[in-house]
Amino acid sequence: MQLQDILFSQGFGTRRVCCGLVQQGRVTVGEPPRPATDPTEDLDPMGLVFHVLGERWVYQPLAYLMLHKPAGYECSQKPGAWPSVYTLLPGPLRGRPSGAASGVQAVGRLDQDTTGLLLLSDDGKFIHRLSSPKHHVPKVYEATCKHPVTDQQIERLLAGVVLDDDPRPVRAAEARALDSHRLQLTLTEGKYHQVKRMVAAVSNRVEALHRSRIGAIDLPPDLLPGQWRWLTAQEVAGLMAR
Ligand code: URA
Repeated sequence: MQLQDILFSQGFGTRRVCCGLVQQGRVTVGEPPRPATDPTEDLDPMGLVFHVLGERWVYQPLAYLMLHKPAGYECSQKPGAWPSVYTLLPGPLRGRPSGAASGVQAVGRLDQDTTGLLLLSDDGKFIHRLSSPKHHVPKVYEATCKHPVTDQQIERLLAGVVLDDDPRPVRAAEARALDSHRLQLTLTEGKYHQVKRMVAAVSNRVEALHRSRIGAIDLPPDLLPGQWRWLTAQEVAGLMAR
């Protein structure tokens, strides 16, 4: 694969821009780095390490990553009042030429004020599998509530509550109190504002919400709000195998 095509596939701009990056001496390939001078140089992209403007990249045919979403960010490409989570990612991840859309897309959305684990990818199959209600991928949330959490509220969340947009009850796969005002809920669906609406349906109110787990993936304690990292091949395979 030509170097300029490798750079293009990884989101560094149009082929013309990528060609220019190489011609201007802004790209090195391999480790230890060797300056690249020929945009048409033929390279095996698999596992290729390269640097663009001093930043290290490893070729990824498809991108799979996790982000620790901070509060105050919207999961939309075109946000309203708040900045977009996509601004927390490096430009190339937003510029990857991926099908109809451009760049990685969030797998489902978290509310502006919700924090925690968000997965992103440019693999349509991966996004579909994780967001499809058919696959029942469990997602674990910690909700800080305005009023004390009671056994009766937990029983009702497990038995099922009716939300305003659907007569069929939605139930938590698991629910337990973490302390007097904190509730851990595991959901296998992804309805709009689902945790907040379920908690409201049992006469309490979510004051803060955090997602700590999707499938078998936990938000790592050392991934700070606003930081992202690639998913490992095992993590991706585990999520796809569900
Ligand atoms: N449920 C909510 O109410 N909000 C979220 O952000 C996620 C789940």
